[in-house]
Amino acid sequence: MKQKFKSLLCLFLAVIFYFPSFSQSGRTPVKAENGMVVTSHYLASEVGRDILAKGGNAIDASVATAFTLAVTLPSAGNLGGGGFLVYYGSDGHKTSFNFREKAPLAATINMFLGEDGKIKDNSNHESLLSVGVPGTVAGLYKAHQKMGSLPWDELLQPAIDFAENGFESTYNMNWFLKWVKDHKDDELYAATAEAFLKNGKEIYNSGETWKQPDLAKTLKRIQKNGADGFYKGKTAKLIADFMEEHGGLITEEDLSKYETEELEPLEGRYRRHEIIAMPPPSSGGVALIEMLNILEGFDIEEAGHNSAASLHLLTEAMRRAYADRALYLGDPNFNIEMPVEKLTSKEYAAELREGIELKKSSVSDSANFNNAHAQYESPQTTHISIVDKDGNAVSMTYTLERSYGSKIVVEGAGFLLNNEMGDFNPIPGYTDSRGLIGTNPNLIAPEKRMLSSMTPTIVAKDGKPLLVIGSPGGRTIINTVLQVIVNTIDHKMNVAKAVESPRIHHQWLPDRTRFEDWGISPDTRRIYKEMGHEVYEGGKQGQAMGIYIDWENNFIYGAADSRSYDGKAVGF
Ligand code: GLY
Repeated sequence: MKQKFKSLLCLFLAVIFYFPSFSQSGRTPVKAENGMVVTSHYLASEVGRDILAKGGNAIDASVATAFTLAVTLPSAGNLGGGGFLVYYGSDGHKTSFNFREKAPLAATINMFLGEDGKIKDNSNHESLLSVGVPGTVAGLYKAHQKMGSLPWDELLQPAIDFAENGFESTYNMNWFLKWVKDHKDDELYAATAEAFLKNGKEIYNSGETWKQPDLAKTLKRIQKNGADGFYKGKTAKLIADFMEEHGGLITEEDLSKYETEELEPLEGRYRRHEIIAMPPPSSGGVALIEMLNILEGFDIEEAGHNSAASLHLLTEAMRRAYADRALYLGDPNFNIEMPVEKLTSKEYAAELREGIELKKSSVSDSANFNNAHAQYESPQTTHISIVDKDGNAVSMTYTLERSYGSKIVVEGAGFLLNNEMGDFNPIPGYTDSRGLIGTNPNLIAPEKRMLSSMTPTIVAKDGKPLLVIGSPGGRTIINTVLQVIVNTIDHKMNVAKAVESPRIHHQWLPDRTRFEDWGISPDTRRIYKEMGHEVYEGGKQGQAMGIYIDWENNFIYGAADSRSYDGKAVGF
């Protein structure tokens, strides 16, 4: 008995001291000394922590975590999507990887329009035509080839184990499982039913074990052959055959031509901090730096956190940056004259500030735009923040676009395809006051990348990473990241508080501000409205995943936004 007690005690102590994965509550961050992983799914965070604990670096952990999310968080984690990764080493080395999806070679500028010039049956969001050529596997492979330290096959194993042996389904997936059950007899979604339903027919209850054998086989091909395990051979053929059979555009040639770009990150400065972010085709870095430059000319700390005065200034910065986003940004390989340097300059911000009145809202210029469709903003996409034992940081956001992307699983391959083509401007020349954009830089062309709002960002000070941050949330992402940074630098919040605080969103058009459905007082709202702002309330904004490094005391703090059901910060 005594012996048994002793063994149990040893096991308990080993768990506590070897892997003390502290969980987070409310506005208290998780504190650790050796490394931190923050994601929207606890299993993926734990996998990342294990990789760091066995000596892997931040890139290794991001690869293992991203493949795990493709299994455990199928709403956004993916093989069939794309994204961006920003890296800042403790030695000052900075880089970024662009693995955004591309339009297929057969794509055309008007491919989603009917004869009446309107979008046909929401086809840019809900059809096989909405699928862009996926980039995720190529991106993870390239980042690993350049900077990984552990063997590639080890990094794939945890994801394969979860796909093969299963894991507990959570309540989070239930709405989607109901949708799949309703569509299981539609031949486009037959493989989705096969992958997501018990025996292809019934809904898994939360807590039941869910296995994905086809996905495990695809992951094993990637484990064995690297990116070629996806872009060539059996997986590529499964994708291309499926496309041909069901009227999609992606061919084996599209897949074999796909390449990740390594890019110099975009750099800005805010109150003596460096801002390291993603350049186009992400609009995130440009708009974020433009907004921070505008705000730098105001005393935001003095204005007070989420006071009417500071919300007004945030709104005016958002309005201007989102207008520029729509007018100028797209894939730089197709828009060689994009004025990124100007948009991110302090001089331009000073000019924009001149048009901001301290107590009166501006008006978004929609005079020339007619009204039509309301633009839906997907709350999906997912973000990974990682810091390793040496203080190297990875900020990576990747996506299928909407929740579960196109909802179409490739038959025999077990993974979901994105619906990222919906991020292109669908109707050339048609911009409306409700948020549909038709400006030139983001129109469809073969092999072009669609503009993104994903904003993986690292804030640094004195040449070392300080805050690693990003979020899902469609066009709201940039504003979520902005507010976490302002909360940290101006309002001196710890990372959990900075991530949790109520947020707002304005995107130029429609000319109104969304407040989350809690946390801004009626008094503040009244004063804010009296300045001329239109307000509406709704839901939650993003799921920010943040890490803060305290170099002076050698602690790392992590926070998974409580807006994410299964998110977790795990340190050790
Ligand atoms: N699909 C969301 C984004 O890239 O912004």
